[in-house]
Amino acid sequence: MKIKNSKKTSVSDEELVRNLMGGYAENASVLEQENQILKQTVTQLKRELERFHQPPLLVAEVKEIMDENAILRLNNGNEFFVGIGKGLNELKSGDSVLVEQKNLTIVKVIPVAKTFNVDKFVIVEKPKIKWSEVGGLDHQINEIKEVVELPLKKPELFKKIGIHPPKGILLYGPPGTGKTILAKAVAASTDSNFIEIVGSELVQKFIGEGAKMIKEIFQMAREKAPSIIFIDEIDALASTRIDIGTSGEREVQRTFMQLLAEIDGFKPLGDVKIIGCTNRKDILDPAVTRPGRLDRLIEVPLPNIEGIKQIFAIHTKNMTLDKRINLDKVHKNLDEYSGAEIKAVCTEAGYFAIRANRTRILEKDLLEAIKKVKRDENLEGDDYLRMFG
Ligand SMILES: Nc1ncnc2c1ncn2[C@@H]1O[C@H](COP(=O)(O)OP(=O)(O)OP(=O)(O)O)[C@@H](O)[C@H]1O
Ligand SMILES: [Mg+2]
Repeated sequence: MKIKNSKKTSVSDEELVRNLMGGYAENASVLEQENQILKQTVTQLKRELERFHQPPLLVAEVKEIMDENAILRLNNGNEFFVGIGKGLNELKSGDSVLVEQKNLTIVKVIPVAKTFNVDKFVIVEKPKIKWSEVGGLDHQINEIKEVVELPLKKPELFKKIGIHPPKGILLYGPPGTGKTILAKAVAASTDSNFIEIVGSELVQKFIGEGAKMIKEIFQMAREKAPSIIFIDEIDALASTRIDIGTSGEREVQRTFMQLLAEIDGFKPLGDVKIIGCTNRKDILDPAVTRPGRLDRLIEVPLPNIEGIKQIFAIHTKNMTLDKRINLDKVHKNLDEYSGAEIKAVCTEAGYFAIRANRTRILEKDLLEAIKKVKRDENLEGDDYLRMFG
């Protein structure tokens, strides 16, 4: 009996111990897992901390390579003679690079496209403006067709005759006379991409990057060909007044040089055309209009009476005009008004009618509007002058 009994207890003890051990083993594996996770978190945090301790790298441009060293240009225009880090065998001048802050050693090359994306800064569109929406500029339209449209549409014609069409044109004239819509209309008629850059923006927004920006814009134009590069306010880049004193002026000069280089690099019969635009032809650097560059100059003046008639008709096409309006009188009153002002007159006349609860525009609405547009402009002109004391 006794033996039997003791046997019984020892079995249950064994079981008990096994169960207990099993429990601990389970516990231990959970703890081990937990430990592992904590360890991972610690290493991650350590890495993060390290990153915070790292000094930032500078972005610079390689100007020239000299064996083991390079001449580096920082964004502010300063140049340094520096060492090149290991493994950067394929470094070229013109590359964008990351450099150490203290000794400016080149650490890494960054692809140009990564420094900024031109697509983000430049408007590329396919305009839909028709020739019929441009009034009073028949002579200018013909010339643009000859220089821009024909070479894009029939390059073989020029090859046969053996002449090179101009690479681009320069439109000049007072504000609001239709230069931009002319350029857009030719882009539309040739189904080209219209790439618009504004000279003053290029100079002010992309300090230190202007030249590179120009390079990339022309690159993009070639990729998206047929395309028209429209440079508004080209005088901001190509002005004779710049007298290379400050670094800002040097920067403008560099951007301008890059522009000339790009224009020179073009084949005249390629499918990229350049249209420059300015209100200030008088201050333009003649380098930009030299033969082989934007050498076709087209003046876009204020409209004459025939032009006024056409522009007025274009902008009142969808308006309900009273039959009794003496159109001749209205046209005469619009003398010296630009296309943009004529458009503004039409809009204002519409407002006068709305205020009087009419849907039909009367002669007096138009005459009032004509006065208002000039008056508002004069007021703004005065404000403008007052701003400068
Ligand atoms: N000849 C024109 N025919 C029809 N509309 C015109 C004409 N000229 C100007 N306009 C109207 O005026 C608006 C402004 O014209 P546009 O932008 O082409 O002027 P611009 O000459 O480029 O002026 P800026 O020199 O100020 O850039 C156009 O959207 C158009 O509606
Ligand atoms: Mg314009």
